[in-house]
Amino acid sequence: MTVISRFLKLALAIMSCIVVMNQAQCTTSDPKYKLYLVEGEKLYMTHCSNCHQSDGMGLRKVYPPLASSDFMEQNLERVICGMKYGMKGDITVNDVMYNQPMPGVMSLTELELAEIATYIYNTGDHQRGLIDVKQVATIMHSCERP
Ligand code: HEC
Repeated sequence: MTVISRFLKLALAIMSCIVVMNQAQCTTSDPKYKLYLVEGEKLYMTHCSNCHQSDGMGLRKVYPPLASSDFMEQNLERVICGMKYGMKGDITVNDVMYNQPMPGVMSLTELELAEIATYIYNTGDHQRGLIDVKQVATIMHSCERP
């Protein structure tokens, strides 16, 4: 490879990162992202894996899956609010309907919510990259509390 084409490739990679800022490939080397992932996994195992299972596949028709959830992709705000305040009512995940209340974990801080969100949104099929505590703080202001 010539020096020029190597340079072009690098420039292209940087440019595409700027355009799609939040993509996982742009943040995977970021130490903050890695820290969120590690902490998020621990918190997930403590607070969520009982129901959604440690591999995020859920449990039959009782607990919906996270690993491949289309609901998650379309409902970041509801998911983040739901971790703290709980969720209820019908929801459809990958064409299967669930309707069982999920208890919230009121003790979770905004940082912990961001860490769990970063973990679940970058495992299985999800590749959203870092979900920063600042973004979570903004979302938390507009949660509908049950
Ligand atoms: C006691 C069991 C239980 C625990 C613990 C629990 N959930 Fe849930 N979760 C549910 C149920 C049941 C639903 C479906 C809610 C409904 O029907 O409205 C759900 C729904 C969801 C959804 C939306 C549906 C989907 O699959 O995309 C997400 C995301 C989610 N939970 C993430 C979490 C996270 C993250 C935690 C830990 C902070 C957690 N849950 C803890 C039972 C649980």
